[in-house]
Amino acid sequence: MSHQEKNVLGAVSDAAIDPKDKERAITRRARNRIRGLSHHAYYTTDAEKTRHFYEDILELPMTIALRIPDEVFTGKPAPYCHFFFEMGDGSSIAFFDYPDIFDGEPPFTVSTVYHHHIAVNVDSVAAIEYFQKKLSSEGYEGTYVDHGTFFSLYLRDPNGMNLELTYTPPMAEEYNLRAEKTAHAELKAWVATRA
Ligand SMILES: [Fe+2]
Repeated sequence: MSHQEKNVLGAVSDAAIDPKDKERAITRRARNRIRGLSHHAYYTTDAEKTRHFYEDILELPMTIALRIPDEVFTGKPAPYCHFFFEMGDGSSIAFFDYPDIFDGEPPFTVSTVYHHHIAVNVDSVAAIEYFQKKLSSEGYEGTYVDHGTFFSLYLRDPNGMNLELTYTPPMAEEYNLRAEKTAHAELKAWVATRA
């Protein structure tokens, strides 16, 4: 077991999973009023470079591109473009290219993945390898991490945004059901001991 695996697995209960646990998770999700991610919006100053990254390299079709003449809240004339790349569940990664607000340098640079990042599911480890090769040939070098129960490639998009491509195999479901049992106790312990 790798150090990373121990970190992840060590934080969850090793209690056995009751078959009802899975049913309970399904019911809980079905009752959630918040249904899922509609879109995650970020900003760019290079719309074409962003389109190339998401559409040509990551193969997410651009399904909406809106040229808006006025600022939404004030009505002040300030043209911008808002465009969307669709993922497999119908949700999107979207961008604003808004010269009046963001201009010049790539808008966002962060030093670590612990800053804001978004993680998107891919359908297999092979898909991570496939995209890693494609990204690398275009100059986007990612870092691959085997977390034990899931696998991730961490990279930066052309705008400096942290992006994680991740695959969680079906066998990890049991891990998630166990994690749920200790989540509140773990957080409480963290809050109580945080310096
Ligand atoms: Fe993550």
